[in-house]
Amino acid sequence: MNEEQRVASQQVNQPKPINTKTEKDYSKYFERVITAPSLKDAKKRGKEEVKYHKDFAIPQEFKGMGEGRKFFIRTYGCQMNEHDSEVMAGIFMELGYEPTDKIEEADAVLLNTCAIRENAENKVFGELGYLLKYKRENPEMLIGVCGCMSQEESVVNKILTTYQHVDMVFGTHNIHRLPHILKEAYMSKEMVIEVWSKEGDVLENLPKKRNGAIKAWVNIMYGCDKFCTYCIVPYTRGKERSRRPEEIIQEVRELAAHGYQEIMLLGQNVNAYGKDFTDLEYRLGDLMDELRKIDIPRIRFTTSHPRDFDDHLIEVLAKGGNLVEHIHLPVQSGSNDILKIMARKYTREHFLDLVRKIKEAIPNVALTTDIIVGYPNETEEQFQETIDLYREVGFESAFTYIYSPREGTPAAKMNDNVPLEVKKERLQRLNAVVEEFSAAALKKYEDQVVEVLVEGSSKKRDDVLAGYTRRNKLVNFAGPKELIGHIVKVKITDAKAYSLRGEFVEVVNRQEVEV
Ligand code: SAH
Ligand code: SF4
Ligand code: F3S
Repeated sequence: MNEEQRVASQQVNQPKPINTKTEKDYSKYFERVITAPSLKDAKKRGKEEVKYHKDFAIPQEFKGMGEGRKFFIRTYGCQMNEHDSEVMAGIFMELGYEPTDKIEEADAVLLNTCAIRENAENKVFGELGYLLKYKRENPEMLIGVCGCMSQEESVVNKILTTYQHVDMVFGTHNIHRLPHILKEAYMSKEMVIEVWSKEGDVLENLPKKRNGAIKAWVNIMYGCDKFCTYCIVPYTRGKERSRRPEEIIQEVRELAAHGYQEIMLLGQNVNAYGKDFTDLEYRLGDLMDELRKIDIPRIRFTTSHPRDFDDHLIEVLAKGGNLVEHIHLPVQSGSNDILKIMARKYTREHFLDLVRKIKEAIPNVALTTDIIVGYPNETEEQFQETIDLYREVGFESAFTYIYSPREGTPAAKMNDNVPLEVKKERLQRLNAVVEEFSAAALKKYEDQVVEVLVEGSSKKRDDVLAGYTRRNKLVNFAGPKELIGHIVKVKITDAKAYSLRGEFVEVVNRQEVEV
């Protein structure tokens, strides 16, 4: 190949320069770093009191920054992340940006990421590679990475070296700083990184652009202090800190007044709610007892940790009304040895005892769970104990996962003698049991009348409506679109593998309780 050909081939093969970032500028990125993450710092739990910021407002200087611009947010991970995206969408809109669901139209693209398992992270890296195409077409497009992955040093380093078309990286404690970060990114030609590895504060009055007008998420607490040995969340989300009850009650009241039909209270470990208050004795049971009195048809919460699930909470939940008969109660394993090395701080016996108390108080309760298979050195017998426990409790559904080592966590340092093939095979066997129990739970609804909160039309057919029962079962039935947003009675005609099918009976009066 002669020089001319070589230059010509390079012109074809080489990517167009993006902004002015080149390999040569690389060292500057580190100088430009405003704050980089540290898993070690994120792990610290000091005695500092939680700071409450009630006066959040977007400074005047940023207003109008988004005039004529559009934003796009892609969210990965849990409902906490979904809700954070609603907050970021709210901030964008206060800045004057408009939402778009077409990436190619967006002036600012955010990936709100999840770090819980390796495959969650790989999806994000795949998407980042894909975004390069858009950045080449529109070099002015700002690309940002936020959420739990941003809190990891290794991820930020990888973005710095491999994904130089990213303009902003910011962490879970920096969401309210979005206006500053955007401004910095517009002015700077280099990557803007702002990730605080701190225990965390509570910020009130952040704007929110909620997805939909039927169901709403409400944070009741942030962070996690449980430090289960496999889990990255305590490092990415900071320490457990609760919102004040009056703020939560006020938010739920406002949502009820706006016609919302269902509230999902959010926290990584909602049963620890209130533990951090130094000035009042107030726990999840007390909060639920207050929320019960608000005129809104349904209130759910997620996620429960078996250790902090107290008797008062059970007693309050048993009062029913708008407190639904569904509890998601992750058990993770049925083996005491595995629970111990997971540092879950409860035993199989304690878990079964808790289930017994819940079932006694709420006889028609639907219990669902999360399970990890293939924990380091898990034996076949230990795995069998999980299957046995599943059968004994009779969970109605479960999220099941193969253990994924997370850098910086104690479990990631353990030697593991269980081959991946064995883990996959165990997952399959567990899933077969999960499916058997889910199908049996659905079968019981045949010929019964249930209450369904109609959320929209079915994904497959426009004339079929879809919604969930109080016990979180998906129901499809034919009916007019006017029913969307209402709670209706449906007679179940058939149970499918993952959902129920039925016939519309009537619209429910709000005050009535499910049959
Ligand atoms: N706070 C919740 C769980 C949040 S993470 C709780 O404690 O119940 C959701 C689920 O992901 C967990 O329940 C667990 O089953 C799973 N999970 C967490 N870390 C994991 C890891 N390293 N590998 C595989 N699954 C994991
Ligand atoms: Fe992770 Fe355990 Fe906290 Fe749940 S309770 S978020 S599994 S550390
Ligand atoms: Fe994932 Fe973070 Fe939620 S790691 S599961 S998005 S708290």
